[in-house]
Amino acid sequence: MGRRIVLLPGDGIGPEIVAAARRLLEAVGGFELEERLVGGASIDAHGTALTDEVLEACRAADAVLLGAVGGPQWDTTDPTAPRPEQGLLGLRKGLGLYANLRPVKPSPALLLASPLREERIRGTDLLVVRELTGGIYFGASGREGGRAFDTCEYEVAEIERIARVAFDAARDRRGRVTSVDKANVLETSRLWRETVERVAADDGEVELDHLLVDNAAMQLVSEPSRFDVILTENMFGDILSDESAMLTGSLGMLPSASLGDDGGGLFEPVHGSAPDLAGKGVANPLATFLSVALMLRHGLALDEEAAAVEAAVEAALTKGWRTPDLAWVGSETPPMSDLPAEVEVGTREMTDAVLAELAV
Ligand code: IPM
Ligand code: MG
Repeated sequence: MGRRIVLLPGDGIGPEIVAAARRLLEAVGGFELEERLVGGASIDAHGTALTDEVLEACRAADAVLLGAVGGPQWDTTDPTAPRPEQGLLGLRKGLGLYANLRPVKPSPALLLASPLREERIRGTDLLVVRELTGGIYFGASGREGGRAFDTCEYEVAEIERIARVAFDAARDRRGRVTSVDKANVLETSRLWRETVERVAADDGEVELDHLLVDNAAMQLVSEPSRFDVILTENMFGDILSDESAMLTGSLGMLPSASLGDDGGGLFEPVHGSAPDLAGKGVANPLATFLSVALMLRHGLALDEEAAAVEAAVEAALTKGWRTPDLAWVGSETPPMSDLPAEVEVGTREMTDAVLAELAV
């Protein structure tokens, strides 16, 4: 009881979906919720995307739930100006959250919402394990006159620890890891590949294969069901997880967990701040609800409550509730007669629908 969760609504649709998640957490019960600023909201208030105080509050909490950061009002190419994304990157680095888990399992109720054909998506159940505190995101960068650079660097220990997360996850799933790199071009990828090979040999149980990232991007849409765990570095994981999200029908469905070695963690929907939708009450709260489920399971060891949240989301979808991003793509009426009629709703009604199904 009384576990402390820091809520970081952030920018754009962040405040709306985190407000919805607050209702969900209150319905589950037993949490102390504390709200703080991050991203553009923090830049406006304090001139920086993440204050030391907020970082400390997150460190002291049992878990952190984040909405989204960023928006056009803070977009700039001036290298000296603060950026909202620095808030998120500062949290990941500052809290040592090197393992980012992004599960992609399309809801049976949403097979028509994806731009991909239903028979392609059927059977998809994959987990992207993205390295989150290294690579080009955190290497030396800068500008010198008419030249700019970003450096991609990895150390063996960083690769080993994320590989172990992927192998552990695979053992509880279908026992298969696909490591994605660009070993035909990049030195960091060659180190990645040989290190992952070694971790696989130590593991002895999990089946490992390697794909080059361009090929992986192609296979994610041509044969997504071939994947179990996808293990990859920071930037490739960023790109491939947005691509994978469309298998679920909408970026608005994909949750994530960012974990380190100290327990707790940071949980956030994969979609961004969607500034064009902000303030309209139409944002899909489901990726945030599913992120709450990941928080309950991985951050707070509340497996039953996590499963109840996931079941409530599925039940609301099965009844036909849809935010605008989830409406099926194609003709005027759903082509399959066994599907329920879809009812298009906003954030509040979708939240009501999920809460009505919640059995905790
Ligand atoms: C994500 C986002 C972030 C990233 C941005 C907002 C910095 O795209 O979590 O995937 O690139 O990691
Ligand atoms: Mg991204």
